[in-house]
Amino acid sequence: MPQDVDYSQKLRPQIHFSPPKNWLNDPNGLVYYKGEYHLFYQHNPTASIWGNIHWGHAVSEDLLNWKHLDIALKPDEYGLMFSGSAVVDHNDTSGFFDGEDGLVAIYTSALPQKHKDYYLQQQCIAYSKDQGRTWIKYEDNPVIENKRWKDFRDPKVFWHKETESWVMVVTNGKKVNFYRSDDLKNWEFTSDFACNAFQFEGVWECPDLIKLPVENKAEEQEWLLQTGFQDNSLAGGSGSQYFVGEFDGYQFKNLNPDQKTFWVDYGQDFYAVQSWANLPQSQNREVWIAWMNNLAYSDTLPTNDWRGVLSIPREITLAEYNNEYYLKQKPISELEKLREHDHSVKEHDIQNVFDYKINYDPFEVKFTAEIGPRDKMDINLIRGNNLRISLLVDKQNKEIVLRRSFNIDSKIGKVFNDTHSAQLFEVREKIDIQFIIDRSTLEIFINDGEIVFSDLIFPDDIDKTILSIESNSENGKLHDIEINKLHSIWE
Ligand code: FRU
Repeated sequence: MPQDVDYSQKLRPQIHFSPPKNWLNDPNGLVYYKGEYHLFYQHNPTASIWGNIHWGHAVSEDLLNWKHLDIALKPDEYGLMFSGSAVVDHNDTSGFFDGEDGLVAIYTSALPQKHKDYYLQQQCIAYSKDQGRTWIKYEDNPVIENKRWKDFRDPKVFWHKETESWVMVVTNGKKVNFYRSDDLKNWEFTSDFACNAFQFEGVWECPDLIKLPVENKAEEQEWLLQTGFQDNSLAGGSGSQYFVGEFDGYQFKNLNPDQKTFWVDYGQDFYAVQSWANLPQSQNREVWIAWMNNLAYSDTLPTNDWRGVLSIPREITLAEYNNEYYLKQKPISELEKLREHDHSVKEHDIQNVFDYKINYDPFEVKFTAEIGPRDKMDINLIRGNNLRISLLVDKQNKEIVLRRSFNIDSKIGKVFNDTHSAQLFEVREKIDIQFIIDRSTLEIFINDGEIVFSDLIFPDDIDKTILSIESNSENGKLHDIEINKLHSIWE
């Protein structure tokens, strides 16, 4: 697989993963094994639109710099290679590895049905004895047949230590199903979980279930269950929600209020999120990554020979406020390797505009805003050629609103919204803002990752971008402004 791919295109992100060419959607099979982070992804190797779905493959030693490898899974008699996960079978429970360990991928095969608008979706497995370089499909696939359901896909499998069993969470219509297995081949259904599902259009997809520490409660850990749903999310189009609760290996019990929706991300472009399996315990963290896109317009984005990008990998934890559990997400600590410090300012009075010309890309800006007594601060962040990004912090309504504007290609359609809003969990005097702009991607982390907005942007000319922090607030202050250049991972 050639590594000399052209990553110089105007909209091609420089510190985010995108395919060498053609189409990418969901991240799949994320697993750490023998010093490598594996990243598989939904890939059409022959066109830059969805279809002909294979599993593309890349590996990294630091979650930032990626080496492209050959296609891992190709369509077969059971259909296309839809989304799924991968595990390390440490104790050879599957019997595939002659008593050693190895990788097993658990995925959905999807067969188009004649004269019907759906694909027959069944769960299949494949294994690799050579660190994911080549894959053997299991001879008795599918491991979970499907005779009844229209939408039954995207298995995420993990080893449930407490009950010493493999557990699968897989979406089925507007719910998730849990299954258990001793050997990854024979699966037994245990339970369903559905909650507040029917307020959203479209079925659930790409679930994940992972145990996380609760940062502000010593020793407490809870399970985070994440699912994507296809339409009608808060920001418009597809979106991701989460539940936090107890999981005993068989059933999930939500500890958050059932009727309230908890959003993973408040922007429009963070979907099909999946966590890495088997991270070394010494890392003491969990990490996930998502497809930075939206089912409502993913096929129409204004790039040509490549289409689709993944987010920056994020470290995830939970926090508890007022008896509710919230997700927190921060860019992985490895990002430090790409930073080159450019400029910082200790304190800036908000009555004066803070303008700074940034003549490189990508870049990162961090600062703390101290909100004045008027309780509302409208902060313009970026001014470019046809590009504007601003944040309104409204303490009274406990709200934060992101506005982005640029020339939108009319083909992208109406679902592409300019304004996204989120509720602040707690109202504090100061608010921390960190944002990263990488050509066509924008990720804003508020208050150490309590709220994140991830959005695609299509600036005409990123070189003309000015960091221009300006506010209507009377007495506010900006503290610790820091501007960093980020070095491209593709050069
Ligand atoms: C989500 C999704 C998955 C499916 C895959 C097919 O984006 O629809 O549910 O497995 O894409 O490419």
